Parts: sequence; structure tokens; C-alpha cells
Amino acid sequence: MDKIVIQGGAQLSGEVNVSGAKNSALPLMFATLLCEGRHTLRNVPQLKDIDSTATLLEHLGCKVARIDGRTVSIDVPARVLSNAPYEIVRKMRASVLCLGPLLARYGEAQASLPGGCAIGTRPIDQHLDGFKNLGAEVELTEGIVNVRAKSLVGSRIVFDGVTVGGTENVLMASVYASGETIIENAAKEPEIVDLADFLNKMGARIIGAGTSIIRVQGVTKLYPAEHTVIPDRIEASTLIIAGAISKGHVVVKNCVPDHFDALTSKLKECGFKIQSDNQTVEIQALKEWRSSDITTAPFPGFATDCQAQFMALMTQAIGTSVISETIFENRFMHVPELSRLGADITPRSRVAIVRGTPGKLKGAPVMATDLRASASLVLAGLCASGETTVNRIYHLDRGYEKLEEKLAALGARIKRLQ
Ligand code: EPZ
Repeated sequence: MDKIVIQGGAQLSGEVNVSGAKNSALPLMFATLLCEGRHTLRNVPQLKDIDSTATLLEHLGCKVARIDGRTVSIDVPARVLSNAPYEIVRKMRASVLCLGPLLARYGEAQASLPGGCAIGTRPIDQHLDGFKNLGAEVELTEGIVNVRAKSLVGSRIVFDGVTVGGTENVLMASVYASGETIIENAAKEPEIVDLADFLNKMGARIIGAGTSIIRVQGVTKLYPAEHTVIPDRIEASTLIIAGAISKGHVVVKNCVPDHFDALTSKLKECGFKIQSDNQTVEIQALKEWRSSDITTAPFPGFATDCQAQFMALMTQAIGTSVISETIFENRFMHVPELSRLGADITPRSRVAIVRGTPGKLKGAPVMATDLRASASLVLAGLCASGETTVNRIYHLDRGYEKLEEKLAALGARIKRLQ
């Protein structure tokens, strides 16, 4: 099993490019199922989750090819299979995003229920309620969810709570539904806007993506399309925090700073000097920084996917930081591992109290438990004295493209051992 070994203490400096967004590329790949023909997606990151999605699309009958490092073509035949098997869904929860497009196109789809995962139970009840609202029948038998509809009819869908995947799945299900579908309390994440943009390029009629009310006028035909995936806002945020925690001076390029305003304003509260234009963020070296509290929230709030990384930074702040996780019930698994490095953190259900002490972390072997937890351990390793070994980094490979290479190019003493 690969591991990452870091000799802490190097100040990062230089420029680094952000890759395409994992959480955008995945729904976009599933959206191609909505019509026959060759779709082309550009700026697709090279990640395990992208490979798992390609495997599922191929299982369904599509041909997926990387034309070059960043461009993926997906040939969707006239008829594809309509089931997502357990072996694939268990590796990647986002596989349930095949349900919406398959239901829309063929009037039926089956997927194994994804079950819980490391960060929480993560049900898909809201996805299924949305399908029901459009006229589908939903049946759960032996861990498999079956959705079926003779025809889908536009409807008003009000989500109980904000759900990114639910909004994506229902949006994809609704594009062929007759009449108008109104999705209320929709997720406003940039990835939703990217999906709506792609669907509109295919011929869908969607307005309001990026607000809490999305309106879809059903169409009868869609066409294959080309699209460039937006930059990964969580990778960009992680690289900015890498610059900050290493007391470095880093320019993060090819990103959309508006997509992580919540992070940059927190960093400014801590005292960091940050400059940005349309595509670039620059963070300047600071010897000491103040603590700041965060509460995770749906976009445009502070991203749950950046909570663990920010916590690593707060272990080095002057003062106490209160970190509240409101999206997932079990997203503090990095806490015991950060504590192994010497961090002073008290987790209490969904709140963690971080008592920052600059320079206190000492390298140690730690275990990655999920994607963002892994990133926080790498960040902590950058500033810990001595050697930190992050084990089980297959989690990291699911969602960060060559993170260790990008950090090494900025001057980090980091290597992957196989
Ligand atoms: C997406 O997950 C992201 N994954 C997650 O990224 C991200 O943390 C999350 O959105 C929140 O921003 C992808 O885009 C592939 P949700 P998703 O539905 O869609 C509850 C990462 O590290 N809920 O917005 O699964 C759910 O349990 C990750 O890249 C229901 O109760 O998240 C959670 O508490 C991990 N019923 C909350 O809503 C439902 O039917 C938000 O989940 C659906 C969700």
C-alpha cells in the first residue's frame, strides 16, 4: 500500500496549477448517459474516482477513452444497461448518480444502495423522493434500489435539506420530463452550475442553477456535447492552506477564487495577506497567525470538504478555534491522527475545539481515513518537525491529482513510497 513520507519544515514557494474538479467531473460523466453519441469532457482530473466512474460507464455499455491527459471522450450507445452493481457502487458512492439519467432516458434504473461510509450514513432518500415526485416508482429490495416510470412529468420538488447529489440526480432525471420541473431548496454549489451548463449545451432548458430555485423545461431530445470541467475549488483551497501552514509564498493558478471566498475570508481573519484576480490566488508568508472559528455549511458557506485542512492550519494558530461540522455526522476522523502529531484538539460530537500552539507538531506515522482527512494529515506533516508518514493514501488518490508532486514542485520534502 502506498504511503507518503514528509520531512516537515520546508517553506513552500512558487506557482501551482489546479486540476479539474472531481465533484464536477463525476456528475458530468454520468450526464452523458442522457443521450447517444460521443461526448467530450476536457480538464478531467486523473483520479481513482474518475476511473471508477469510467468502469461503471463501460459496464453499462459506453466506451470511455482518455484522448490525452486531460480530455476524456465518452461514446454512449443507443441502448445501455441500466444497473449499477454493488462492486462498483461500494467503491464510490457517486455511482448512484447514474439513476437520474438512466431513469430519464429509459424509464428504469437499478443501483445497489451505497450504504454508509467513513464520514457518515449518507442516505439517498431525497434523491428517491425527487424521482417519486416526477412520477417514478421506487422499490427497495435486497439492498438494490429500483426506479421505474412509464413517463416522467414535471413537478415541484422541495428538498428537505440541501443535497448536492440529490440536486444533481433529480436535475438529470427531469430534463426529459414533460412540462416544467421546479427544484426548490436546491444546492447552489459551483458543481451544480457546471452540470446545468453541460446539460444546456446538450439541449436541456435549465435556468436558475446556482440559486436555490432551479427551473427545468422538459425537452424531447438531447445531443452529445463538449465541455470543460471547472477547476477544483477544494484542491485550490488545500494548496492555499499548504502555502499558509508552511509559512510560504504560493501562487495558486487556474482556479476560480469566487468558488472559495468563505475560505479566503477566514484566512484574512487569521491575518494572512491574500491577493486574487479571476483565476489566481496568492498567499504570502506569515510567521504567526490568529485562530478563527468555522462552521461548515452548503455553498457559499465554508465547505465541509475543507474543514479537515483548515483544522490542520488552526493547530498552528495563536488562540483557540471552534470548528463546527454541520454537514456530516462523522467528519472528525482526522482528529485522533492530528493528535498523534501533537495537536491539542477536543472533539465533541460535531464540534472540535482546537487549541493552537505554533511549532508544536512533531512528525509521526499516521493513518489516512478518508479523502479530506488524508489531505489534512499531509498539511500537518508539512509543518511538523521531523518525519511524518501518512499511510493508506489510496484515499488521497481518489480525489487529489498528484498532490505530492505538486507540493514537491513547490519545495516540500515529500515523497511517495510504494
Ligand atoms: C457531495 O456529496 C460531495 N461529493 C461531497 O464531497 C461533499 O462533501 C458533499 O457533497 C457536501 O458538499 C460529490 O460531489 C461526489 P449531500 P453528496 O447530498 O452529494 C444528507 C469529498 O470529499 N443527505 O450534499 O453525497 C447527507 O447524509 C466529498 O469530495 C440526506 O440525508 O452530499 C449529508 O449529511 C465527500 N439524504 C447532507 O445531506 C439524501 O438523500 C449533505 O449531503 C442526500 C443527502
